[in-house]
Amino acid sequence: MKVHVVQGDIVTSAADVLLVSGLEDGGSLGGAVSAVDDALGGEIRDAITAKEFEGKFQSTLIVRTRGRLSCSHVVVVGLGKKRELTRERLRQCAGVGVKAARLLKARSVASVVFGAGKGECKADEASQAVIEGALLAAYTFDGWKKKKEDAVSLESFTVTEIDRRKMTGVERGASVGEVFASATIHARDLVNESGQHMLPKDLKKNAEAIAKKPRVSAKIMSRAEVKKLGMNAFLAVAQGSENEPYFIHLTYKPKKPAKRSIALVGKGITFDSGGLSLKPSSSMETMKCDMGGAAAVLGVFSQITELEPTVEVHGIIATCENMPSGSAYRPGDTIRAKNGTTIEVLNTDAEGRVTMADSLSYASELEPDAIIDLATLTGACVVALGEEMMGLMTNNGRLAEQVFEAAEESGEEIWELPLYKKYDKLIESKIADVKNIGGSWGGALTAGLFLQKFVDKKIPWVHLDIAGPAFAERDYLSYVPYGGTGAGVRTLLHLLKRFR
Ligand code: BES
Ligand code: ZN
Ligand code: ZN
Repeated sequence: MKVHVVQGDIVTSAADVLLVSGLEDGGSLGGAVSAVDDALGGEIRDAITAKEFEGKFQSTLIVRTRGRLSCSHVVVVGLGKKRELTRERLRQCAGVGVKAARLLKARSVASVVFGAGKGECKADEASQAVIEGALLAAYTFDGWKKKKEDAVSLESFTVTEIDRRKMTGVERGASVGEVFASATIHARDLVNESGQHMLPKDLKKNAEAIAKKPRVSAKIMSRAEVKKLGMNAFLAVAQGSENEPYFIHLTYKPKKPAKRSIALVGKGITFDSGGLSLKPSSSMETMKCDMGGAAAVLGVFSQITELEPTVEVHGIIATCENMPSGSAYRPGDTIRAKNGTTIEVLNTDAEGRVTMADSLSYASELEPDAIIDLATLTGACVVALGEEMMGLMTNNGRLAEQVFEAAEESGEEIWELPLYKKYDKLIESKIADVKNIGGSWGGALTAGLFLQKFVDKKIPWVHLDIAGPAFAERDYLSYVPYGGTGAGVRTLLHLLKRFR
């Protein structure tokens, strides 16, 4: 969907559907709505008087224009109470508006900047939120369907602002919003593609294509090179599949030499069958999403040149499949990881942490100022926090604080889980330095503790378990439909903007 920003009166717009907004406690109609209402002979006001539309958060009023305006319909979206306005609410309301426009078979939509009125949000922040919500709500993944989701597809979204003084902010916000949405959509597409078409080699190709961007480069290692570097843990997981594994290292260098650097590490299991510790079939149904962490890293890199962070950024992905076969790694195997730590594998389905062991050691050797990893790591995290929240574990409160602030801006939900030292005993192995599963309980915590053994203690590190939010098994929000969500992407982008 193309985004345009214009200065002018929305009443004169030539779009198929107009989006305007109303507050629950708005009193009189705001400028844009009131002009539209005049053209509609006061139908909006009538609906408000009749309490058919009260401005409740995410409610809508749809008015057919019947020739009174050049559009076919006007959609009024309720923003809720003014004091409860947040950027996340604006994102959700823009999503509601776009979903309504899609049902009305619109090709083009013109919208006011929701929430940018007096005493509301800053023009740039509101504009960014509206564009993110609109673009993400317009997202479909229907390339495999004969009958597309929408008979008519939404092609353009025009943000219309009447106040000249707000234009700079609105334009800036809209272009950042486009960057954030594009990066998220990049990740969604990777997750949504079926496992047989999103093999490790496809993630590698994706990284190579991204590396054509200015200031981005890629180092890609195949099995033999990975072996030379001693990444036996990663290779143990990969050995059960006929599809070649790859180790991907993307680097972004800003124009001005950077003072600081950050490594983003993503779990890249393109399909997790469980391996010899085979999953029940119903648990495998969505396991193409097990590269959601890698997809988030690639999503960020897909727009990193546009974002222009001032820090150096590394993107690290060990990608392979977890398959059962005559060559698969077995329960009981002992492997020496890149950093020398030995792992006793007791369950081949706890494979993410085994591959991440080597990618985190690799990241540590780069000596970045921070490491953030994203992994669809444990079902236990989903049990603890539900499907919509990421779990965060950290060795550094200050870095975690920055991640929380970034999440607040992005509207993504993160909850901290403890890196509880005493549970280290649960992953002690009788024959190796560590085993790859804990006891029956606290599975997200023991997974985090396992990862910690492969991170250099001196480096601030945040682990994000995105097993819940990476894949939506139902529509979560107006702008988060079924399927890959791009979880983590927008939080990382906000973090990169503030990390210096
Ligand atoms: N990829 C899964 C975790 C997962 C679960 C991701 C649900 C997304 C949704 C991971 O590799 C896994 O299988 N973990 C096991 C670990 C257990 C064997 C210790 C789990 O959580 O059951
Ligand atoms: Zn698994
Ligand atoms: Zn997995």
